[in-house]
Amino acid sequence: MMTSSTTYVPSSQAPVQAIQQHVDSVIDSLLTSLPRPERLSAEERRGVIARYTAVLEGNFIYWMTGAWLAVKSEAARAKIMENLFEEVRDAHPLMMRKFATAARAVPTDADALAVQKNLTAVRLFIGRLSAVRIVVTMAFFEGLIQRFMPYLAELARLQGSEEMEYTDVHGVCDVTHTAELYRALEAEMMLASEPAAAAKNLFEGVELLRALLMDIVAASGAPAVIAPAADAVA
Ligand SMILES: [Fe+2]
Repeated sequence: MMTSSTTYVPSSQAPVQAIQQHVDSVIDSLLTSLPRPERLSAEERRGVIARYTAVLEGNFIYWMTGAWLAVKSEAARAKIMENLFEEVRDAHPLMMRKFATAARAVPTDADALAVQKNLTAVRLFIGRLSAVRIVVTMAFFEGLIQRFMPYLAELARLQGSEEMEYTDVHGVCDVTHTAELYRALEAEMMLASEPAAAAKNLFEGVELLRALLMDIVAASGAPAVIAPAADAVA
């Protein structure tokens, strides 16, 4: 049965194609909701880069490590290991830091606090080591990050930065990589001991990360709204 709703209703087999469709629709709606970079104040642009950095710099490798610990299939293990290898060998957290530093957007205490609640939720979700849900979350995050890079790069450019290694490296559209990731998901789903349970709340991690991304973009989790003129105050 076709439905125009974006709500995903898992079938008994929860086919990978339907999962990919839902993940892509969540990515699409998130990207279309982004405020235009030129409409943001300098402080708002700085905040987005800083909160993104506060989340990604110290957590991405940790999340990937959680994924590696959770999965059982060779296909998923190989895919995650490839990712971890690149992260460490090419020092992606350093790339991230250089990006934030050049855009004068190194995270402050307030930036860290603005993402704390939903970041904690993602950490606890990863800690439950639920293999299928984690691989679905990975697929969502990788697809999102890749398509978010031009936006992040534009924010940095408007802040006067020319340091784009991070966004260049992560903005590459790798169709093979995505296909392999979904093949890994399929392999992991075949090994899942409780396929029905796995299909329930299949997008739990996706929803948690979406909330975290919304904090990054709009600082909705911030304890206080920063007035637009705050950056002019010495
Ligand atoms: Fe990376």
